[in-house]
Order: sequence, then C-alpha cells, then structure tokens
Amino acid sequence: MGRRWGFLIGFLVAVGLLGSGHGEQQPPETAAQRCFCQVSGYLDDCTCDVETIDKFNNYRLFPRLQKLLESDYFRYYKVNLKRPCPFWNDISQCGRRDCAVKPCHSDEVPDGIKSASYKYSEEANNLIEECEQAERLGAVNESLSEETQKAVLQWTKHDDSSDNFCEADDIQSPDAEYVDLLLNPERYTGYKGPDAWKIWNVIYEENCFKPQTIKRPLNPLASGQGKSEENTFYSWLEGLCVEKRAFYRLISGLHASINVHLSARYLLQDTWLEKKWGHNITEFQQRFDGILTEGEGPRRLKNLYFLYLIELRALSKVVPFFERPDFQLFTGNKDQDAENKMLLLEILHEIKSFPLHFDENSFFAGNKKEANKLKEDFRLHFRNISRIMDCVGCLKCRLWGKLQTQGLGTALKILFSEKLIADMPESGPSYEFHLTRQEIVSLFNAFGRISTSVKELENFRNLLQNIH
Ligand SMILES: *[C@@H]1O[C@H](CO)[C@@H](O)[C@H](O)[C@H]1NC(C)=O
Ligand SMILES: *[C@@H]1O[C@H](CO)[C@@H](O)[C@H](O)[C@H]1NC(C)=O
Ligand SMILES: *[C@@H]1O[C@H](CO)[C@@H](O)[C@H](O)[C@H]1NC(C)=O
Repeated sequence: MGRRWGFLIGFLVAVGLLGSGHGEQQPPETAAQRCFCQVSGYLDDCTCDVETIDKFNNYRLFPRLQKLLESDYFRYYKVNLKRPCPFWNDISQCGRRDCAVKPCHSDEVPDGIKSASYKYSEEANNLIEECEQAERLGAVNESLSEETQKAVLQWTKHDDSSDNFCEADDIQSPDAEYVDLLLNPERYTGYKGPDAWKIWNVIYEENCFKPQTIKRPLNPLASGQGKSEENTFYSWLEGLCVEKRAFYRLISGLHASINVHLSARYLLQDTWLEKKWGHNITEFQQRFDGILTEGEGPRRLKNLYFLYLIELRALSKVVPFFERPDFQLFTGNKDQDAENKMLLLEILHEIKSFPLHFDENSFFAGNKKEANKLKEDFRLHFRNISRIMDCVGCLKCRLWGKLQTQGLGTALKILFSEKLIADMPESGPSYEFHLTRQEIVSLFNAFGRISTSVKELENFRNLLQNIH
C-alpha cells in the first residue's frame, strides 16, 4: 500500500468514516503471527506504520532514553504510597510493606487449627505462600544514599511547583517519599488474581464512557462473550467520537504495556541461591495470542502503539519548554546537569524528527463549547484513574501504576495545553507553560516504559519465531 493511500485511509479512520473492518486479515498460522497480526502496516486513528515506529524506537530512541533515565534526576521519584483507596476499603493487604497480613505468617497459625482441618490448611498454606511471595516481590526498596538525601532536599527547594495538573497534595504529604526507580524495577510480582482483576475492571467499567446499553464487560480480559456481543462492542467503539475512543485505547495500551513488562521480566527461577528474571513466552501468549484471547490480544498490542504515538507527540510538542536557556535538570552537580540537559535535548530533537507524528488537532476540535466539555470530562475521567491507583494492593505495582498514569496525564496536559505553542521558535520561549520536576520525571519514565515495551515486542517476536 502506498503511503498516500495509507494516509488517506488513516485519515478516514480518524474521522470515523471507516469501520473496524480495515486491517483485518485471514486467521494467521504461526505463533508469532497470532500475536502480531494486527501490528503491521498502518494503525487506526493515525497515519503511521508499525515498522517505522519499531525502527525509530528500537535503534535510535531506546538506547539513549535508557541512559537518560539512569541519571540521578530521573531515577528518584517522589510518591505517596500510603494514600488510602478512595473508592473501597477492602483492599487485600497482601503485598503491602506495612501490611496487616498477619494471617500470611504460617508459623502464627496455631498448629491445632492447621492439623484440625488438613484440607483447609493445605489451601490456606498455599495462599500464605502466595501472599508471602507477593509481599517480598512487591516490596519497595527505599534505601537512598546519604548524598542523595541531601540532593533531594535541594531539589525540593529548586522545584517551584506552580500549576500542577495531577494531584499536587499527594507529594506534599508527609507520607510521600523518594523512591529509587532503578532499585525497584517494574517486573513480575505475583500480584494477580481477583485483586488485580478488580482494579482493571473498575478502570475499564467506570471510566471509559461506557453507555448503559453495552452489556459486554469492557475489560477485554473478561471471558464468556459471544461473537455477536463482541461485534456490538466494537461497532459501539467505532461509533464513539474519536476522543472517547482514544481514551479507551490509551487505557488498553497502558494495560498491554504493563503486561508486556511482566511477561518480559517474569520470575523464572526463585531459589534461595538465586532469582532469575526473564522472558516467559507462555505468559506473553496467554495475554496476546489471537486465538487464546479470542482476538483481543492483537488489538491490545495495536493500542500499545497508539499510546506510544500519543506520548511521542507530546514530547515533540514540549521541546520549546526544555529548550529555554534557564531550564535545568537540577541535581546540584553542575557538569552532570549540563551533560544531562544535552542528552535530553538530543533525544527530544530526535523525537521531533520523527516523520509520522500523530495529529492531536483532530481532538477536541469542532464546536468550542462541546469541545471544552469533552476535554473537561476527559480530564476528570483521567484523574479518577490516577486515584484508582491508590487501590492497588501491591506496593511496587502501585508505584509503577502511579508513575505511568502521571506520565500519561502529563502528556495529555501538554497535548491539550493552549499555553504551549509548539513549532513557533520565532516567538521565543513561552513562559506561561510549566512542568514540575515530578511531572518531568514521570513523563520521561512513563515514555521509557512504553519504549521498553516496543523494544520487548521485537524480542518476543524473535522468540516466537522458533515456536509453532
Ligand atoms: C536495597 O538496595 C540496597 C542498595 O542497592 C541494597 O544493598 C539492599 O540489599 C536492597 N534491599 C533489598 C531488600 O532489596
Ligand atoms: C510462565 O508463565 C506460565 C503462566 O503463564 C507459568 O505457568 C509458567 O510456570 C511460567 N514459566 C516459568 C519458567 O516460570
Ligand atoms: C470515578 O471512579 C469511581 C469509582 O470507580 C466512580 O464511582 C465514579 O463514577 C468515577 N467518576 C468519574 C468521573 O469517572
């Protein structure tokens, strides 16, 4: 397909003239095709093709971004992991450091009870083991060196937090602490089952503009849907205005991205001698194989690319803010800070040179009043999702969940900000637009996570090539 045609089709899809039929292919044969059938060629709602994104990300962006994220400025993230869940109060304590999961301790269960009901206690013991495992793996390592603690004090003074978009009170709270992201990598924690399920369910069900008439659970992991229900669902999705559809796709993309990380850094071996983390192909297939997921997996991967493009576009738009001469990645180490800023600008210019940027002007266009209402709705829904993160039972998942939603929130703030006039270098730096250190750290780390996912997809594609 010529680029011109792709552009036209992309445009028609973007304005909602083409249904979901576009891009469907024959049932694919191999294990690799079964996951990746939808992520090739052109993507809906934009004019890019996957191959261009892969090459651009994996070879040009990913390595530099990783280097940047290892710097002190980006590795320390302040977060309040102790906020109570605002929506329900029966969160499983499993996996929480300060957890009252007393029942998880097997030697605290009296022998009498254990032996009284063997069957019960065997089940209970399994549960206990699972809990302990999740707790151990989900705990957050909070150790910071002494120098870092001092530097952190300086940053706080330096960071003039004027117009915070995400919940500002969160990091002002005495409960908020700095976390070293390098010491706490996002990976498989054993946090799954009903609790994790509930979080995603709430996110999909209550926050995705779903009308009452759609009965199908929005959470694509929910099973037991008939084919006809499914068609209703997707035609409903296609019928949504482009913004609401985009909202669903961002959430789905985030969900997919997190699952790619968990499959790529799966706990493969866990003995007291060593822990080994690595790719678990079975896990990946269970989440993304077209047959095993009844067609959902490949769509999720497509949404992951959509999320990538949205954040990429936000970064290209925000370049003027980082180019201001007085902008610093302040940590107190002058040489290092200057070097980091250079690397940051290099990355941003690379991003700006990406030829197929998403056009956010198709969002919130049209009738001004309606557009504003929609934008406000969008913001409220999104804020809600960031609050739901306080209900995640496993601390490490909560940490990365908060970071990634805040990063996406910052990307949306950039895209829809009218204060930030991009692509107008002649007008000089605009000082109306501001990002806090918190927003900057989450923006780049969140993008780093999606960039990692795209890179990991290449690895999984290669691994799956050897299977049938
Ligand atoms: C936390 O990180 C420090 C510094 O790398 C390390 O020495 C310590 O063992 C870690 N603690 C845990 C519980 O992983
Ligand atoms: C990979 O994940 C599956 C679940 O999807 C699990 O049953 C299996 O044990 C995992 N493999 C390894 C080596 O841990
Ligand atoms: C926010 O989430 C809660 C809990 O799921 C829900 O009751 C409420 O309606 C949501 N509000 C918005 C604006 O999405």
